[in-house]
Amino acid sequence: MPSGAPSKPDQMREGEKPSRDDPIRSFGRRRGKKLRPGQERLLAEFLPTITFDPSADFNSQFGNGHGNGQGEAKKEIWMEIGFGGGEHLAAQADLNPDIGFIGCEPFINGVVKLASQLKAKGLKNVRVWADDVRMIFDGVPDQALSRVFILFPDPWPKKRHSKRRLLTAQTLDQLARMMKPGAELRIASDHADYVRWALGQVLAHPAFAWTAESVRDWKHPPADWVETRYQQKARARGIGATFLIFRRRA
Ligand SMILES: C[S@@+](CC[C@H](N)C(=O)[O-])C[C@H]1O[C@@H](n2cnc3c(N)ncnc32)[C@H](O)[C@@H]1O
Repeated sequence: MPSGAPSKPDQMREGEKPSRDDPIRSFGRRRGKKLRPGQERLLAEFLPTITFDPSADFNSQFGNGHGNGQGEAKKEIWMEIGFGGGEHLAAQADLNPDIGFIGCEPFINGVVKLASQLKAKGLKNVRVWADDVRMIFDGVPDQALSRVFILFPDPWPKKRHSKRRLLTAQTLDQLARMMKPGAELRIASDHADYVRWALGQVLAHPAFAWTAESVRDWKHPPADWVETRYQQKARARGIGATFLIFRRRA
């Protein structure tokens, strides 16, 4: 485990001042409503069996009989950063049993929701990191990922909060390192300023090429898209989304 990584998902920097080396926090609260006893049990008993271990052998966590990664080795590994309540991640894992997934989310109530969906559906192809994704970058080998989802990331619209946005040049450097040539980076947002900023960030990075050829490509999601909870809520309020799909250059 990287130095400073928590042994429990909830342990990091809660109420503590970040040290100079900590990344600026890109997420809001770690906990919402008090968990019910069944949810507390899921966190204490089930979550450890599906937790991604950045210090363990990467591939053996997705097949070859290691823990919850039992069964066939996975043909690709996809990562979702900020899965919220996990609806999209659980649906993708269900649709793609031959893919291994790493889901990262520091909001514990969301983590419990995902855990309960995985347990109910018997899905064994997901590993969870219940904290800041940036803590596990060192545990993901070069060119290990074939797809990365960053769906409706916190837009941090106030100027004084803009440093909290996750998609920094440093994050993009790490994504570029972890992604295979040809791998897909999917970003979606309903926040126009954020979309402009995110597009500028990724286009400024030499490792990524935008796949869009016409307006249709950013107004409409790819055919295999699964709506996220946040996206559904925005749509119910009449707010559309923009879909930015990039390829990791060779
Ligand atoms: C606006 S929510 C969207 C949730 C979900 N993707 C959806 O569309 O329903 C953004 C999520 O990103 C998570 N997040 C923010 N920074 C993160 C980080 N550094 N690592 C992992 N998740 C992060 C937040 O906790 C939050 O749940």
